Amino acid sequence: MRLLIRPDLSGRFRLFYMTVNNNVDEALVCTVIFVNYFLLKCFMKSDSLAIKQRYDRIAPYFDGLQAIMEGFFYRRWRKKLWAKVDGIHILEVGVGTGKNFDYYPADAQITAIDYSSAMLKQAEYKKTRKAVAVTLNLMDIQSLCYADNTFDVVIATFVFGSVASPQKSLKELCRVCRPGGQILFLEQVVSSRPLLAKFMNLINPIMRVVMAANINRDTIKHVKSCGFSFVNIDADSGVFFKLIEARK
Ligand SMILES: C[S@@+](CC[C@H](N)C(=O)[O-])C[C@H]1O[C@@H](n2cnc3c(N)ncnc32)[C@H](O)[C@@H]1O
Repeated sequence: MRLLIRPDLSGRFRLFYMTVNNNVDEALVCTVIFVNYFLLKCFMKSDSLAIKQRYDRIAPYFDGLQAIMEGFFYRRWRKKLWAKVDGIHILEVGVGTGKNFDYYPADAQITAIDYSSAMLKQAEYKKTRKAVAVTLNLMDIQSLCYADNTFDVVIATFVFGSVASPQKSLKELCRVCRPGGQILFLEQVVSSRPLLAKFMNLINPIMRVVMAANINRDTIKHVKSCGFSFVNIDADSGVFFKLIEARK
């Protein structure tokens, strides 16, 4: 068995050839496996910069990609989440293209952040078009530039499937929320049904490439282990996503 490295392809896309007893078919199969492996490695990087670049790429198409799920499921749950809001000073993290703008309470003072400039640009368009009163800032959830105990309410919808470090991000949300303040999440989570969880784990790499988000994160566990004084999971939430309310 020989291992050949094709010198004409550089960097990450360099192909590795394995020829087994000069059998071309087997060598081809091995090539396909290796190419898949390297492509997956390239697309599946989960560090902050790679995630940001993925959202920068899909930002112009994001609303279109989500349209069906939004219409059938998410819209109703966003309404339900925003109806729970108990406070005036609100921070929305991972605002994306501004899909929650329609549900912002009229009397609230809202700041919203995202670290993808392309997603924020879409949010800026929507803000102008819909005349929404919101301050948009380019910022990383994992290191927020706000003082401790600044906000009455902190909100994240479909964000914890994509942040690089959910634990670090949760700590930050907790830090900037005032004591007794509310933290609301609407999040895609791994199913508690073992078979479904296995399936979600299986298709997660595809979802990461297509939607730039993980569908198999155990966000409920992460929230519960964060030391909040109160955590409630909406009993009517579906199998795939949960409305979570926490109090600091
Ligand atoms: C799936 S989108 C959800 C957008 C919006 N919240 C919604 O409900 O449609 C996830 C968003 O989180 C943002 N995001 C991911 N990691 C982040 C981080 N570390 N800091 C700030 N924003 C982040 C992405 O840029 C993206 O806009």
